[in-house]
Amino acid sequence: MNLEDIREEALKDVNSANSLQELQNVRSKYLGKKGLVSSALKRIKDIPPEERKEFGRKVNELKEFVEDIIQKKEEELKRRELEEKLSKEWMDLTVPVRGTAGSLHPITITLKRIVNIFRGMGFSVEEGPEVELEEYNFDKLNIPPDHPARDMQDTFYVNKPGYLLRTHTSPVQIRTMLKQKPPIQMIAPGKVYRRDDDPTHSPMFHQVEGLVVNEQANFKHMKYVIQEFLREFFQTDLPVRFRTSYFPFTEPSAEVDIGCVICHQEGCRVCKDTGWLEVMGCGMVHPNVLEACGIDTDLYQGFAFGMGVERLAMLLFGIDNIKLFYENDVRFLRQF
Ligand code: DAH
Repeated sequence: MNLEDIREEALKDVNSANSLQELQNVRSKYLGKKGLVSSALKRIKDIPPEERKEFGRKVNELKEFVEDIIQKKEEELKRRELEEKLSKEWMDLTVPVRGTAGSLHPITITLKRIVNIFRGMGFSVEEGPEVELEEYNFDKLNIPPDHPARDMQDTFYVNKPGYLLRTHTSPVQIRTMLKQKPPIQMIAPGKVYRRDDDPTHSPMFHQVEGLVVNEQANFKHMKYVIQEFLREFFQTDLPVRFRTSYFPFTEPSAEVDIGCVICHQEGCRVCKDTGWLEVMGCGMVHPNVLEACGIDTDLYQGFAFGMGVERLAMLLFGIDNIKLFYENDVRFLRQF
């Protein structure tokens, strides 16, 4: 068969192939070991030397041509096959589910519990972005440029200069004060990110931030709100203590401990035999922070607090490994 005829026949065969299987047969007929194109290639050595070059060029051209039309046809057939499949196989996602399809994640349960308690105390719920301005995450919170938390070791920076993954929910305080005049009484639940990864730390975790700004806010109010929250959360009359601490954005600052809910202050592994568990940080909002948000410190004062949701969930449900929250093992999740 001469090359021109092979070319014409190949074009006809490829055009009439209606399935991938048929196309595969066409491919073997031309490009297979004993195929028409392959045989023509083998004939090159029998051609007289003066015509060999020209013939070789033509056979190779033919080979490329056949490969090309087969490939284009294959793409077309695959596309058609997918379209057919998509039009035949479908399901109605609007059909109501019978029975329970799943359960709430323990972190979701804990967040809802926290949010509901504060809602009951008249707090509004605010949100902020997880990719946050460095200015709101650090500067406006009175965290100095050389503070270790700003280090690449501790913070995930994003490629856009001036932005990072928020390391706490405190920047939502800033956002709220910038857009709303006092009195303010808000909480901000959400995800936060730190370069931390061990049995008690995860690079992503959840916090709930709280902020109250008005003309009278004082340390006693703060103690009352936090104590009430903790009693409501754990549903018992727990011992609560405030321990002096330091945060750049509050002055004075404190850390809040509760009597160990695991051993009831007998001493255990979880409280490291101290009988106490640290559950949040808090303090009177630093005047620099209020001023950075345009709030008149002669008129207003505030208190703030921040808690780790995983920590509270672990204590509430008696879970001893933070990683269990992120593995999504149904044997774990089904227990809530
Ligand atoms: N932002 C702090 C942290 O991530 C938690 C915190 C402490 C928040 C004291 C506050 C506060 O609002 O007053 O560790």
